[in-house]
Amino acid sequence: MNKFIFTQALGSGVWQLTIQREAALNALSIQLLEELKSKLEAIAKDESIRVLIVRGSGEKAFVAGADILEMQNMTRSEAARFSRLGHEVCLLLEQMPKVTIAAVHGFALGGGMELALACDFILGSEKAQFGLPEVSLGVIPGFGGTIRLQRVVGGAIAKQLVFSGERIKAVEARDLGLIRQVIPQEGFFDYVGAVALKIAKHSLGAVIAAKKLMNEFEESVGIHPKVDAEVHRFSSLFEGSDQREGMAAFSEKRPPRFKGLN
Ligand code: CAA
Repeated sequence: MNKFIFTQALGSGVWQLTIQREAALNALSIQLLEELKSKLEAIAKDESIRVLIVRGSGEKAFVAGADILEMQNMTRSEAARFSRLGHEVCLLLEQMPKVTIAAVHGFALGGGMELALACDFILGSEKAQFGLPEVSLGVIPGFGGTIRLQRVVGGAIAKQLVFSGERIKAVEARDLGLIRQVIPQEGFFDYVGAVALKIAKHSLGAVIAAKKLMNEFEESVGIHPKVDAEVHRFSSLFEGSDQREGMAAFSEKRPPRFKGLN
């Protein structure tokens, strides 16, 4: 029985997966990621599912990142396992023989933005906000976000966003090509359902052949060869003091006092 992940059939092969942990703005804990992974493995094998919509529950967030309070006291090897689990979830989304759509109606930050970037495309409402704020916590994006973001917006803009940890709103996300258009908040999920339905009516074989071909092209600057390097760099930061300070500062709701290089 899942505690955090719920699926619903919307008809004609369209399914919706909702991440439901509203009290923590749907933050990705280990348990949540494990549930998500096993649900995605089942969906990948389910021939009745053609298009999967991924969304967060509640008014405010798609997903506000990996669970900072849980990461706060992780050892280096625990952080490496956590990063690898996040990668496994993102690769499942990216590679499954279904169309995956991230429906972002609020915060998509850190691991949440990384999850959205691993979907085939993102639909964003006027309240969508994106960002990779990890450096403000003394770490780096650990679920493939640097590479996938760079692929979409280019190296210099991705670097500016990652180094500044800035949040961007829907209009800027559209201007950067992260989303195609800004969709009104009211009726957003109906719109998402209609987009999914339109795709589901086409030949799944043809759509997935196109997905595989486009993924192969993207793999030329892809995530696969970089997973080990990212897991290593992400987890090594858990040996320094800035990660502890950054995450303690978040939990104590105060600005961090970083020492500099780890
Ligand atoms: N982890 C754990 N708890 C989180 C969380 C997260 N990523 N994001 C929000 N929460 C919790 C808050 O602690 C708070 O809990 P309490 O009510 O118990 O205090 C609750 O969710 C509501 O959050 P806020 O009160 O902060 O809501 P807000 O509207 O004032 O701010 C926000 C919203 C700007 C999204 C803010 O919550 C925030 O900055 N969250 C963290 C975003 C972030 O840094 N994400 C990156 C995480 S690191 C990562 O993802 C690493 C990786 O790549 C693997």
